[in-house]
Amino acid sequence: MKPEILVLGSVWSAEVRERVEAAFACHFMPGVADANDANFASIAARIRGVLTTGTVGITPQLLASLPALEIVTVHGVGVDAVPLDLLAARGIHVTNTPDVLTDDVADFAVLLLLAAVRRLPLLDRYVRDARWPAKAPLTQARSLRGKVAGIVGFGRIGQAVASRLQGFGIEIRYYQRSAGPAPEKRSDSLLALAQESDMLVLCMPGGSDTTRMVGAEVFEALGPDATLVNIARGSVLDQAALIAALESGRLGAAGLDVFEHEPQVPAALRAMDNVVLTPHVGSFTVEARRAMGRLALDNLVAHFAGAPLPTPVK
Ligand code: 8YV
Repeated sequence: MKPEILVLGSVWSAEVRERVEAAFACHFMPGVADANDANFASIAARIRGVLTTGTVGITPQLLASLPALEIVTVHGVGVDAVPLDLLAARGIHVTNTPDVLTDDVADFAVLLLLAAVRRLPLLDRYVRDARWPAKAPLTQARSLRGKVAGIVGFGRIGQAVASRLQGFGIEIRYYQRSAGPAPEKRSDSLLALAQESDMLVLCMPGGSDTTRMVGAEVFEALGPDATLVNIARGSVLDQAALIAALESGRLGAAGLDVFEHEPQVPAALRAMDNVVLTPHVGSFTVEARRAMGRLALDNLVAHFAGAPLPTPVK
């Protein structure tokens, strides 16, 4: 008998679906499973594994309704949507998919930064709207060389962003609460980093430790010529304060791939010319998603075969 698992979220490629269905008896649930639903209640007691995404995770309510659960496998690196303490208390394994998405997410952070600094969406619209032949006014952008980029969260992705930006002649500093890999470039505080930086790239994990860590005083410290990029989680910044800073010109520009209440993006942000907005797609490439799908499945298969988990969350 194949182990029964729940597959949450709606990101699954045909390849992942095919492989997961070959190995497991799957119950696909694109939304958050409703523990009170009669159909769900009839299968809940048999569910031994959950395959989910970084943003869907698993709620404490759903967890409580799955008495036979042994493993939660996250298709993504972030585990902030997974209640790790509750899972640990029940001895349930958690795995994620680190490394295989690092390059594509780092590339995307650089893309957002360049697009925001050089105002790519505005220029694209300028051409499409035939404002070029009309000689409509255009403001010059800022160059990158010689500027300072502050990276918040200097883990795998933060470091990959840093090495890319160095290729543009940008000086790198970073901040994270724990001691980092390069002590000489670590700023004393987030605020100090913002004061020293022309651009701030948020790469820290989501979760209670980083909730609304970046707020009005950081935007203020960055200043009217600075650009903020967020590829981390919407929760790490104060979105209302960000909107206010961008609207008033106290912060120059932003490139945002993640938002507080995805997929909802405030109308105020959508109306701004000085922001670049993307729908949480840092890892959304054929290669990264294929590798993430394979790694997620390898973890599930290993667990049910009694083998060591390739990428357990510690
Ligand atoms: C994905 C992510 O959006 O890795 C993460 O933490 O946020 C993303 O790569 C998601 O987890 C895809 O399932």
